[in-house]
Amino acid sequence: MNIVLIGMMGSGKSAVGKKVAERLRRAFYDIDALIEKEEGQTIAQIFAQKGEPAFRNLEKKMIEQATRNDGSVIATGGGAPCDKENWELLSRNGFIVWLKASPVKLLERIKKKSLSARPLLVDQRDPLQTITDLLKKREPFYAKAQQTIETDRSDINEIAEKIAMEFSKQS
Ligand code: S3P
Repeated sequence: MNIVLIGMMGSGKSAVGKKVAERLRRAFYDIDALIEKEEGQTIAQIFAQKGEPAFRNLEKKMIEQATRNDGSVIATGGGAPCDKENWELLSRNGFIVWLKASPVKLLERIKKKSLSARPLLVDQRDPLQTITDLLKKREPFYAKAQQTIETDRSDINEIAEKIAMEFSKQS
């Protein structure tokens, strides 16, 4: 069974995923990082040069590949679970965890790293509103996760611990 992390940009999927994989001595796959490696381009460059639909195809291809593994930890991009085929692939042999956070917190975290690496936000006049709208659209998909963790007031180690505990109860 894979552990699959879903949630909005800035929810901490990559950082938490790395921690969970370390704790449980599992392989870690970060879908966006794998796409960047395979394409030799950043996600921002892919969006700019090839467009979002092309990015979504690459994302699906990478999810197909990553979910052939078992017993790994997978961090998805924020939009990935909203596609039916992606959801089927991820949930078939995956324990799905939603890292939930408020729009204010998400934006705070994204700004700390890099807003320019997030093509869906970079040119928006009001990124907080964009995050709020996206979250509203995506919540019904995210809410199908088997575990939901409120992350606004937790650090990476606490979140990783919660995931490892819940996962050990399931398996
Ligand atoms: C996206 C989130 C990004 C990346 C792409 C699209 C989204 O990943 O896949 O920019 O649709 O929310 P992170 O969630 O890791 O930032």
